[in-house]
Amino acid sequence: MKFGTKAIHAGVSPDSATGAIMTPIYQTSTYVQDGIGNHKGYAYSRSQNPTRHALEKNLAALENGKHGACFGSGMAAIDCVLKMLNPGDEVISTNDLYGGTYRIFKTIFEKYGIKFHFVGMQNADNIETYVNENTKLIWVETPTNPMMNIIDITATVKISKKYGIMLAVDNTFATPYLQNPLDMGADIIMHSVTKYLGGHSDVVMGALICNDDTIANEMYRIQNSSGAVTAPMDSFLVLRGIKTLHLRMQRHCENGKVIANFLAAHPKVDKVYWPGFVSHPNHEVAKRQMSDFGGMISFTLIGDKMEDAHAILNKSKLFALAESLGGVESLIGHPATMTHAAIPKADRQAIGVVDSLIRLSVGVEDAEDLIEDLENALS
Ligand SMILES: Cc1ncc(COP(=O)(O)O)c(C=O)c1O
Repeated sequence: MKFGTKAIHAGVSPDSATGAIMTPIYQTSTYVQDGIGNHKGYAYSRSQNPTRHALEKNLAALENGKHGACFGSGMAAIDCVLKMLNPGDEVISTNDLYGGTYRIFKTIFEKYGIKFHFVGMQNADNIETYVNENTKLIWVETPTNPMMNIIDITATVKISKKYGIMLAVDNTFATPYLQNPLDMGADIIMHSVTKYLGGHSDVVMGALICNDDTIANEMYRIQNSSGAVTAPMDSFLVLRGIKTLHLRMQRHCENGKVIANFLAAHPKVDKVYWPGFVSHPNHEVAKRQMSDFGGMISFTLIGDKMEDAHAILNKSKLFALAESLGGVESLIGHPATMTHAAIPKADRQAIGVVDSLIRLSVGVEDAEDLIEDLENALS
């Protein structure tokens, strides 16, 4: 099946009891057994639930993977990957990444004896410098949050395969509509389903997808043992949201292009970060590994003043001031004080998260209205 057909049909089938075309919300904690151990594949809803199961199959199909697992948040999904490691293991991670990912690495897993190296990966050769016998995981986010850096997944796969290191890719910004890291040889894909996959700003959820059976066994063992699972109602909402993923993503990309070009031509705007520009340092890589460039854009202001950025955030109306991204409605945020406040100032400035940096999640409204809103805010 092609992508749009999979988004609508993969993993779901009419309910066997009633013929309902929509997967029912199996709001149950347990399942009656005919005899001891004789159940219909579902024993207890932490271990498995039919609504969640349909979503896990759907997500696996969208990423061309064999196995999918859903979690109570994107962070819970990341937590699961890290729990596959042991004390003494080392991780090489993108240095420009979601602040919460940085926080869980530094403040939770460092305590349990895992060592992290945060590395600029725009040139994949940098990764190899940090590989040693303890390296067990490479963590890649691409496009990165919030600097929209592009990391070459194929080049990273070459390094991970050469040394037998597991490679996980946070595919939240790209979504499976734009980029399929498993096809390029990555081992695990992570999603904050909260964002584009859910798409309607009404669910917090995470997911992991993989092909390898050994990794899958670990993933399900940790999912069940740690218990950070997602709920049947939320699984239903995401199944519903995903049915329009391809349509929404198409519009996010179209609007993203229009807004990026508008900002690049605006006299008050200094730099615009969007992988669709030919001038983007890894535009050619983006063109090769993504089918389009998405609707996430960051930009800075001439003079780089925090108060100017705050004024714009307070003045925009259609672009709502809020954390998160990927919903149908446009959002505006200030990484330095919001999503990336967990990263020390010197570290965030070093990667480009300066005081005037503003991040946009361009929604699927009419582009003319979005431009008018930004024009008003900038003036
Ligand atoms: C790229 C990225 N990864 C992971 C996460 C964490 O996901 P969640 O908020 O669903 O826990 C986020 C959240 O903003 C994100 O942007």
